Amino acid sequence: MRGGAQAHLMEGEDGNFYVVKFTNNPQHRRILINEWLAGAFLRYLQIHVPDTAIIELTEDFVASNPDLYLSLGSKREPVPAGFHFGSRLAVHPDRVAIYDFLPDKLLGKVENRLDFLGILVFDKWVGNADSRQAVFFRARAKTWTPLKGESPARVGFFAHMIDHGFAFNGASWEFQDSPIQGLYFRTSVYDEVLSLDSFQPWLSMIENFPVEVIDTAWKQIPSVWVQEDGDQLERLLENLLKRRTRVGSLLSEARQKRTTAFVNWR
Ligand SMILES: Nc1ncnc2c1ncn2[C@@H]1O[C@H](COP(=O)(O)OP(=O)(O)OP(=O)(O)O)[C@@H](O)[C@H]1O
Ligand SMILES: [Mg+2]
Repeated sequence: MRGGAQAHLMEGEDGNFYVVKFTNNPQHRRILINEWLAGAFLRYLQIHVPDTAIIELTEDFVASNPDLYLSLGSKREPVPAGFHFGSRLAVHPDRVAIYDFLPDKLLGKVENRLDFLGILVFDKWVGNADSRQAVFFRARAKTWTPLKGESPARVGFFAHMIDHGFAFNGASWEFQDSPIQGLYFRTSVYDEVLSLDSFQPWLSMIENFPVEVIDTAWKQIPSVWVQEDGDQLERLLENLLKRRTRVGSLLSEARQKRTTAFVNWR
């Protein structure tokens, strides 16, 4: 796949397709932890994200697939057997097209476009140092609007929020809080923002974010991803908890620095 982590598209034994990031990816091993935690937190916030999985590559699989390697400069770096991170494709890639970008006209019609407001609240909380990324595909609507209750099933475009490797500023595990980070490059997705209140219910969900959701996700992380980083990870998560009430002011700072991104916020 495109991107700095050199992720690979792989078919799992369960018949699903996953974009897999490896422990020895060129960005950092900690990227996998960031992805894992973000996925779990976003599911709690009911923002549409891919299912995630811990992907095991067996010794046999690695030995019989010499095509599987990372390119580090002119060097071929083999991928080790063991546990890696998988982000599941929502649809079968041969049957349904998945797009990295949509033209503005279609973007305005994305069924769950309000998720772009929720994910901005999230990205500010976790200090995502990257710009926002999403993929789009056509699906039936009914099962895709958890915060809005039941709606009639209809076919439309949906967005999945992807790539949370640079939450916590990537491998640095710190919060830099540049006001403009985390924004989506097509700012029309923020046209519905009228005030800070437009970021509800996510703002208060994060303010009251349950420690248990963090703990559960933390405990699921494979130890080969953590290695000697256990103490630092614990400190990171403590700091994340402390930041829960700061997100409103982080959003206001984003608006001050990028008024053009929020044309209806007065
Ligand atoms: N769950 C998914 N469903 C569909 N496509 C996906 C999914 N996850 C990743 N992709 C695709 O794989 C590509 C690489 O994934 P991702 O952006 O997470 O990797 P990355 O290497 O961290 O990228 P970057 O260089 O932007 O940091 C994406 O641009 C997207 O096209
Ligand atoms: Mg990316």
